[in-house]
Amino acid sequence: MLIDTAQASAQQTADAPAVRVEGVSKSFAGSVALEPISMRIERGEFLTLLGPSGCGKTTLLNLIAGFLEADQGELYIHDKPVTRVPPYQREIGIVFQNYALFPHMSVARNVGYGLRTRGVPKAEAERRVREALALVKLEDFADRRPRQLSGGQQQRVALARALVIRPRVLLLDEPFSALDRNLRAAMQVELREIQTSLGLTTVFVTHDQGEALSMSDRIAVMSRATIRQIGTPSEIYDHPQNHFVASFVGDANMFRATLLEAEGSDARLKLGETEARITSFQTDLPAPGPVTLFVRPEHCHLAEPGTPGTIPATVALSVYQGSHTELHVDCPLAEGGRAMLRVPSRTSVAPGEPLAIGLAESGAAVFGAED
Ligand SMILES: Nc1ncnc2c1ncn2[C@@H]1O[C@H](COP(=O)(O)OP(=O)(O)OP(=O)(O)O)[C@@H](O)[C@H]1O
Ligand SMILES: [Mg+2]
Repeated sequence: MLIDTAQASAQQTADAPAVRVEGVSKSFAGSVALEPISMRIERGEFLTLLGPSGCGKTTLLNLIAGFLEADQGELYIHDKPVTRVPPYQREIGIVFQNYALFPHMSVARNVGYGLRTRGVPKAEAERRVREALALVKLEDFADRRPRQLSGGQQQRVALARALVIRPRVLLLDEPFSALDRNLRAAMQVELREIQTSLGLTTVFVTHDQGEALSMSDRIAVMSRATIRQIGTPSEIYDHPQNHFVASFVGDANMFRATLLEAEGSDARLKLGETEARITSFQTDLPAPGPVTLFVRPEHCHLAEPGTPGTIPATVALSVYQGSHTELHVDCPLAEGGRAMLRVPSRTSVAPGEPLAIGLAESGAAVFGAED
């Protein structure tokens, strides 16, 4: 019986998420930086916190790292409560936006810093520093000073310094935002390769939706101090659950409409002068009344003006994109008066020309006022 219990408990620990956040919140001088948040981050998972400036991403990361103390709630790492454990005992590696390297130390000493503070014997420390530098492809740079490195190389040193301690969780706060576009893309691939090969649980902060979509196993989309949706990149992109997520991730057309009736996921809508039927991907539609109809440009097509069930618009600008052309249209029913269509590059349309936006039967959603 005793053994059974021990086995069960070992099993539980093995199945436990890498990080469990339970009702954790944070305010600064009475202003809420993070509403109570609960989430699990699975072992080996690459989870991205995505959201606009000031939404609480760094606050959540700093709470997990232990640099901030939660007002309420509990944090667990590998099932162990860590809410009152100091940062250096949480076995977490962290990489910030500004590399935060020690300028007077060589690359090797920078990387070895966390090992020296942990009292790792010299020979082992040297071996682990070499391994970490090899992982980020900087073996030949061990004796340089940070100022003798490019921005991308400095960020790789910061990554090696975080990895060398063999953290249980790696936290990265906008690590590539200071890098130019090409370097950033290369570093994204490199980080993902290292992370996958080590099976390392990673929490990555960005406000760049492209970066989030391309790198993550799951994305937590945040706004105004809370998580608005958490899911795989395709769940977030194809099935956003609210107006904020739909407009923050990817291109979205939003039309003012009235929901006349709904049955299951089928909806009949009044769109200005016309009526349209759509099949939504939602399981719950809002109550009949004023709503926002959400449709991605890929679920819209060009239609003849006046076709029933289509939305009238006028061409404002056509932008050639090689494989297709983006038609930006003036549309009184659209939020902000603008919508966008993608059409084949050969389509010839002149600014001022009237057209109609046709809607695909599926791929749309209807958000109520509180979404
Ligand atoms: N130490 C602090 N003292 C007071 N207010 C703070 C402090 N740190 C953060 N805040 C506030 O908490 C909110 C969330 O800040 P946070 O740094 O978590 O945002 P963020 O999502 O990381 O933004 P960014 O993308 O600009 O880095 C903001 O309104 C911010 O002004
Ligand atoms: Mg931040």
